[in-house]
Amino acid sequence: MATGADTLPHPFFRPPRDGAVPLIAPRALRDLLDGAAPPYLLDVRGADERALAALPGDHHVPLHALAGRLGELPRDRPIVAYDHVGAQAREAVQYLQDRGFPFSAALEGGLDEFARVADPDVARYELDDRGIDLVLRQIPRPESGCLAYFVGDPDEKVGVMIDPGHDVAPYLGLLRDGGWRLAAIVETHTHADHLAGHAALHAATGAPIYVSHRSPAQYPHERLTGGEALDFGREELRVLETPGHTRDHLTLRVRATAFTGDTLLLGSCGRTDLGDGSPDLLWESLTEQLLKLPDSTEVYPAHYGSRHALVERYVSSIGFERATNEALAQPDRRAFVQYMTEGWPPKPADFDRIVRTNLEG
Ligand SMILES: [Fe+2]
Repeated sequence: MATGADTLPHPFFRPPRDGAVPLIAPRALRDLLDGAAPPYLLDVRGADERALAALPGDHHVPLHALAGRLGELPRDRPIVAYDHVGAQAREAVQYLQDRGFPFSAALEGGLDEFARVADPDVARYELDDRGIDLVLRQIPRPESGCLAYFVGDPDEKVGVMIDPGHDVAPYLGLLRDGGWRLAAIVETHTHADHLAGHAALHAATGAPIYVSHRSPAQYPHERLTGGEALDFGREELRVLETPGHTRDHLTLRVRATAFTGDTLLLGSCGRTDLGDGSPDLLWESLTEQLLKLPDSTEVYPAHYGSRHALVERYVSSIGFERATNEALAQPDRRAFVQYMTEGWPPKPADFDRIVRTNLEG
């Protein structure tokens, strides 16, 4: 059996603990894939899961078929096996090492962790006793620091798009490639910093546009009120009203996931001085609604990155933000209002034009 420090397959692979197989962390794998000598990527999942998300340039040999297809695998190149969350990949690596493949490691945390911390372009999905039953895709736009989301029920092939940006080609590609039907386009709020894509996406797909009942939108739309739920397949998008960043702000929940728009960002929250925001309302939305959610609730914001003076992470949790978020660290309403009204950079020059356009289109 080839485990142990003397047979470490690659300097990037984490040394195995006794009896364990070598692991590679998601960011280390991403660096290797971007480098001159990328490893041989081996997806050991079944075809159903593979159809939902896979790493580009990989090879597919399901764990149950590995024994009969060892001849396809290289013996002189690092192999990184992956699956959804890591268990099958570790089994595969153990199997390979027992058969003399010296250069192999399992992706720590699997594709799910890779998507979460190393590459948000990779779709996430959940498994339960019934099998695969929820797909979540985070779609970043690096040039603007905006994040759009697709959530879908893979059994019924139907989903919703949240906060699409004005270039809708990536969303249409995602829908087409996955064979998805779009049940709804949802805006968390009227955006002041970027042009929204709801009109173009509606024109291309026919899916209705949903916004808060408080929205002054002038285009045809459906209205959402707190406590309501929007069905897609066997799933539902539950609506919380979280005014503050704007009066029409919604937070949308699917199971233990919250799409918080600009109400709660990672490390901060959205400013309240572009349009009709209110720091008092934001304080109430944060303390009376979002911070009442379980700490394990995953937080998916509408912005990330340096353009917005935010971290380059894409997902957090209510618990982590409760412990670390600068805005949430304000001790009381008065301090919070002061925090929200002092020290922010100048308003973007064209924000009122963007708001007008977003309300018309
Ligand atoms: Fe916003």
